Amino acid sequence: MTDRNVTLSTEGKDFNYPILEGSVGPEVFDVRKLYGQTGMFTYDPGFTSTASCQSAITYIDGEKGVLLHRGYPIDQLAENSTFMEVAYLLLHGELPKGSELHDFTYTISRHTMLHEQLATFYRGFRRDAHPMAIMCGVVGALSAFYHDSTDITDPEQRMIASHRLIAKMPTIAAMAYKYSVGQPFLYPDNSLSYTGNFLRMTFGVPAEPYAVNPVVERAMRRIFILHADHEQNASTSTVRLAGSSGANPFACIAAGIACLWGPAHGGANEAALNMLREIGDVKRIPEYIARAKDKDDPFRLMGFGHRVYKNFDPRAKVMKATADEVLKELGKSDPVLDVAKELEQIALSDDYFIEKKLYPNVDFYSGVILNAIGFPTDMFTALFALARTVGWVAQWNEMISDPEQKIGRPRQLYVGQPQRDYVPVDKR
Ligand code: SDX
Repeated sequence: MTDRNVTLSTEGKDFNYPILEGSVGPEVFDVRKLYGQTGMFTYDPGFTSTASCQSAITYIDGEKGVLLHRGYPIDQLAENSTFMEVAYLLLHGELPKGSELHDFTYTISRHTMLHEQLATFYRGFRRDAHPMAIMCGVVGALSAFYHDSTDITDPEQRMIASHRLIAKMPTIAAMAYKYSVGQPFLYPDNSLSYTGNFLRMTFGVPAEPYAVNPVVERAMRRIFILHADHEQNASTSTVRLAGSSGANPFACIAAGIACLWGPAHGGANEAALNMLREIGDVKRIPEYIARAKDKDDPFRLMGFGHRVYKNFDPRAKVMKATADEVLKELGKSDPVLDVAKELEQIALSDDYFIEKKLYPNVDFYSGVILNAIGFPTDMFTALFALARTVGWVAQWNEMISDPEQKIGRPRQLYVGQPQRDYVPVDKR
């Protein structure tokens, strides 16, 4: 709280709304009493100027391209951390000491298996079901199996549910891939890292041992870290809103997965690679740039633009460097990467993109790496959901513990019919 106010003057009266300041970033003015005092609502479709909560987990400065997790810059975490370390940091607020990291990693590894009956859920899907459809269904179904961790008023149950969700997402995602290719599911191997275990469950087969490629493991770990959390984005806000009604954590994360699936959000990584493949050749880039700029054409450059980043997405920078590194170390080349780099160069020198501050976002280069590792395009958003589960459960826990939080219930500007009387059908 500061001693300053924003004063709103309407119909000859002044109303003061206290200005609140955070540790860094924009201040806010508290409008919770606005409707009671003025009879008016604020109007902010898409919440472009609205803070929905207080949070200490992630800070983004869109103008400077800054992304901090509990104060630590994303590029430092991507370079130096393991995913378990970042998960602990997001959940508990501090980088873990050695013993804390060991205990946390042990706990997570002891929750990696699914209830055996959940495997039968996969048989109910068509083999060509989108992995995100399976993720929505299976994660939502977890609440039917883990009743001992659905009481959100019990901090211990909340943490068990959080550990279960973080631990089981790689198993669920890997099983979705295995089901789509008709291969048997592999059980987790707790002797491997979180990322290595996921790679083995995805690409290993019972017929032979699977050696985790350290280059791939490092790239996958970095991708998971880059996707772990991102302030109050659409899917995180969905998780918070679902959680505000007291819904169990498994249902809340299933809601977040559903929201992330959209091509304007987490679905953009799949859409971006499909777009780059459709462009296919640097000679066709001008045609697509023109379409992106054409108001009458719904086409947008997927993987470009961001609600918050108006300079550059720091995650895209790390992702671009990782794409070069992985392709080189795997001895692979991908013409799509050349198209992506040329498209970025052309777009960033085009007045339309400069004026609208459109830059590559986290989804622009990630598909090139995931494709090089061997994932089918429709698995990309499932990997985003796997990684973002850590951020979702951290934000969900923060919301439940926030004394100021109550059920989310926005209002509206009503533009429909005023009251009118019913007309019998023979009189219409
Ligand atoms: C993620 O919020 C998060 O933090 C999300 C995320 C996370 O980690 O959780 O970072 C993950 O979702 C990244 C974004 C992935 N989506 C895409 O790459 C899809 C393509 N991008 C856009 O659809 C768009 O840029 C959004 C949705 C990302 C942001 O949209 P905004 O903030 O609502 O901006 P807008 O749609 O109002 O666009 C502003 C202008 C518009 O032109 P005008 O109406 O002002 O004339 O820029 C144009 C848009 O037409 N524009 C684009 C464009 N993105 C915006 N034009 C061409 N290509 C694009 N990609």
